Amino acid sequence: MKKIAVLTSGGDAPGMNAAIRAVVRSGIYNHAEVLSVEDGFTGLINAQIEEMNLSSVADIIHRGGTILKTTRCEEFKTEKGQKRAMNVIEVLGINGIVVIGGGGSLRAARTLNSLGVPTIGVPGTIDNDLGYTDYTIGFDTSVNTVVDAISNIRETSISHGRANIIEVMGRDCGNIALYAGLASGAESIILPEMDFDIDEVCRKLLRGRNRGKLHSIIILTEGVADPIRISNEITEKTGIETRATILGHIQRGGSPTAFDRILASKMGARAVELLIQGAANKAVGIKGKDIIDMDLDKALSVGCTFDIDSYELANVLSI
Ligand code: F6P
Repeated sequence: MKKIAVLTSGGDAPGMNAAIRAVVRSGIYNHAEVLSVEDGFTGLINAQIEEMNLSSVADIIHRGGTILKTTRCEEFKTEKGQKRAMNVIEVLGINGIVVIGGGGSLRAARTLNSLGVPTIGVPGTIDNDLGYTDYTIGFDTSVNTVVDAISNIRETSISHGRANIIEVMGRDCGNIALYAGLASGAESIILPEMDFDIDEVCRKLLRGRNRGKLHSIIILTEGVADPIRISNEITEKTGIETRATILGHIQRGGSPTAFDRILASKMGARAVELLIQGAANKAVGIKGKDIIDMDLDKALSVGCTFDIDSYELANVLSI
């Protein structure tokens, strides 16, 4: 009988609960004992650990956030923190861990493996910045949340004849901006993967205005430029009143889409299957329709992939 622990780490993402449910239920189905760790790696260091049963994960598949809570744990990066975590793992007899989180969390999962604990990483982040997998858990929900928010902004934007800059999350990766932009018919999509020219953004707005367009949407990935500064610049250069909206953490909450729930269920179950089979140091992902697994080292060597075709399509469709 295996004793498997599951934790969530880093920024939360809608669908993490569905992944936790899948780990717990498929672990128990496969005769493993399943423990949960609260507060990510911080909870592993501090032994915030509980035994799970089938009911522990009832009624969570539709909920955003993570019932296990999460932290960005600096202590686990230190030798002292790692030693404390290893003590807890040894005392409790844990012989496999599933880590659900983004890039930083999968790197911590790799550290656990190097310390001798078989660990499997499940990609959970709204950013979709792990190129070894087509999708990370939470991305689809986040894009849909952004698209809904843009629909609301579009209405007021039309009433006032304004342009709107909408800043979205993504850290160093423009995927949320790109797909939300394509889905919303945004005039311009500003992301870290492509240089942008404010004059070209303005020319596009003016072309639209000249053919009678009542509003314009510009999507900006966080960190690329200051949304307030750009909106002022656009107003000055075009005479079109421009407002900026920073969507912020609204993009991280909400009930996961069916896509994210299914993805999380499949990935969580695969992680358990791997541990039961004696595998370690793997990241689970999806390529096309297939759930895949890959050595964590290899998975982590692939950064955010940029879908240039979708970017060009968005440009063509917004001429
Ligand atoms: O990685 C997910 C993410 O939401 C990024 O898009 C964003 O840059 C960051 O986390 C925000 O982190 P925090 O919630 O700690 O402010």
